[in-house]
Amino acid sequence: MYYRHRASIDSLPGYRQGSPAPAVPGLTSYKISSNENPYPPLPGVLQTVSEQALGHLNRYPDMHGTRLVERLAKLHGVDPACIQLGCGSTEVITQLVDLVAGHGDQVVYPWRSFEAYPIIITMAGATGVPVPLDKQGRHDIEAMIAAVNDHTRLVIVNNPNNPTATNVDRDQAERLLQALPADLPVLFDEAYIQFNDDPDRADGLTLMREHPNVIVARTFSKAYGLAGLRIGYAVAAEPIIAGMNKVALPFGVTDVAQTAAMASLDAQDRLAERVQALKQERARILAGLQEQGWKIPEPRANYYWLPLGQAAAQADQLFRDAGLSVRTFPGEGIRITVGEREANDRVLEVCADLRRQGLPQDPIAD
Ligand SMILES: Cc1ncc(COP(=O)(O)O)c(C=O)c1O
Repeated sequence: MYYRHRASIDSLPGYRQGSPAPAVPGLTSYKISSNENPYPPLPGVLQTVSEQALGHLNRYPDMHGTRLVERLAKLHGVDPACIQLGCGSTEVITQLVDLVAGHGDQVVYPWRSFEAYPIIITMAGATGVPVPLDKQGRHDIEAMIAAVNDHTRLVIVNNPNNPTATNVDRDQAERLLQALPADLPVLFDEAYIQFNDDPDRADGLTLMREHPNVIVARTFSKAYGLAGLRIGYAVAAEPIIAGMNKVALPFGVTDVAQTAAMASLDAQDRLAERVQALKQERARILAGLQEQGWKIPEPRANYYWLPLGQAAAQADQLFRDAGLSVRTFPGEGIRITVGEREANDRVLEVCADLRRQGLPQDPIAD
């Protein structure tokens, strides 16, 4: 059936959600395809939500999330007018793109990276300019600078990058910001910042103080383990936040999500413990993979990247047979979330199998 619509949507690849854990008789199966946290919400969160939020589901939430915004402003040492909430950082990024880019405008972003970027950009009517990562799966900063022109309205930095888990360091970030016009917005998408322990990592909030064109996007979905509640936020200069607020989905962030986020902020010690435990698991997996002879980019997020190239699809089947759903990008590689210990052990077994079968690895990390 033909119906009147925007033809640009026809060629848009829809967002692919990480597949659920495959059922394999006799095995506990695991979903390690969406970079979710294997831990439940932090202690106190469920109780606070049931005591403070569930009793008034008949009411709309506070549209501006005033109390949470004040908490976040204090946490980051900025004015509350510099914080904007969204239904996940996906919506925050959507607000920003809608604010700055429309028909005839361009948005420069690294690729491969978070697959929502091209969708959000096309939905805004703008044109995406993907800039290939370098051989190590890192942002190619010089190529990104070269991709900017008079039509560019936004540059996106994804630190650490999804799916390659690579870090953007301070020098690279400074080089980028120094080379770009001061009025060109630059988004630092820091969905996995808590896991980025590279001592030289760029920090969007620090950069923002020197470069008011920097916007930082953060989320409660990953380290905080609230992916199911859809809540994230941006930190940016007041005029940018005011603009994002205008294009935000009205009442998009529920009171349950706001309450859970506030209770999570009360549990920073426990958050730090969990992040530490996940980083230790990541180090254990990395050591195991290296012992097997894998060369992978040093992971700085709660996931890691197997640069399998053409062998990715074949390897995916081995993971499925072992009761594991991983995130496969055919022809490129496989992204695997650090999950439960048993899931991680099983990944190592499958990876050892892949080595035994002699599946060729892409030269990405050579
Ligand atoms: C790089 C990156 N940015 C942003 C997001 C959005 O997360 P959410 O909308 O759950 O906050 C994700 C989710 O996977 C991501 O990988």
